[in-house]
Amino acid sequence: MVDALRPEPLVSIRHLAKSYRRGAQIVPVLSDISLDIGAGDFIALMGPSGSGKSTLLNLIAGIDRPDSGALLVGGVDISALPEASLADWRAAHVGFIFQFYNLMPVLTAYENVELPLMLTRLGRAERRERVELVLRMVNLADRMDHYPSELSGGQQQRVAIARALITDPTLIVADEPTGDLDRTSATEILAMLQRLNADLGKTIIMVTHDAHAAEAAKSLVHLEKGELLPTEHRQSSQRPPERTPERPPEPRQDGQRG
Ligand SMILES: Nc1ncnc2c1ncn2[C@@H]1O[C@H](COP(=O)(O)OP(=O)(O)OP(=O)(O)O)[C@@H](O)[C@H]1O
Ligand SMILES: [Mg+2]
Repeated sequence: MVDALRPEPLVSIRHLAKSYRRGAQIVPVLSDISLDIGAGDFIALMGPSGSGKSTLLNLIAGIDRPDSGALLVGGVDISALPEASLADWRAAHVGFIFQFYNLMPVLTAYENVELPLMLTRLGRAERRERVELVLRMVNLADRMDHYPSELSGGQQQRVAIARALITDPTLIVADEPTGDLDRTSATEILAMLQRLNADLGKTIIMVTHDAHAAEAAKSLVHLEKGELLPTEHRQSSQRPPERTPERPPEPRQDGQRG
């Protein structure tokens, strides 16, 4: 009965399996993964190197496809979507944050954040309004015209967070977002992710090797040799003391095609 009252999870994974082919050899990576992730959760995914964390994250984000099993995000079976629809789905619903920021070196911070909006039909003035808003949210309003090489690692990761947020996605996936940062910058990035989760309700899945980073999350999932260990839930993640960010504008549908 209680189950019937429980809201549908945002991400629902059942018996997911993935292997890679290397020449004639098949390398099994994930076997029989089942996991529910609720809307508004902040999950840390930990596990030894090579255990399949990035593989799982990429499947959930629709970057890669499973061999078998069900993978529903927001009720959509993304493993069944044709390639073009999957790309559109990703652009509308997922924000990505990577360990090495993946910013375009020839574009300014402003232009990097604006990039995902170039795929939408938003006009220049609307794009500017939104880019400036998210750059203010990550406290980089004064660095808009800087190139990535003119920013610190922590600042580059904040640009990447702004870029992940600009389309107002439901889901944010982060693969070792603090892996290349010193402790102070890492703490700042984690506090920012916590605010996106607590104040904007963004669901976050973060792969990390760092126990300190995992403490920022609300629940902890361990992956060992392609299999999940039981999820640990925390009472509540510790709220960072900093100010509440401004809300981003309402999501716009006019950029979605197909
Ligand atoms: N494209 C690929 N082709 C073949 N094998 C791959 C591919 N991508 C990953 N693998 C293999 O799958 C396994 C899991 O890789 P994955 O990147 O998911 O691990 P990880 O847990 O993220 O590790 P790390 O902590 O080092 O980032 C590894 O053994 C890796 O060699
Ligand atoms: Mg990895």
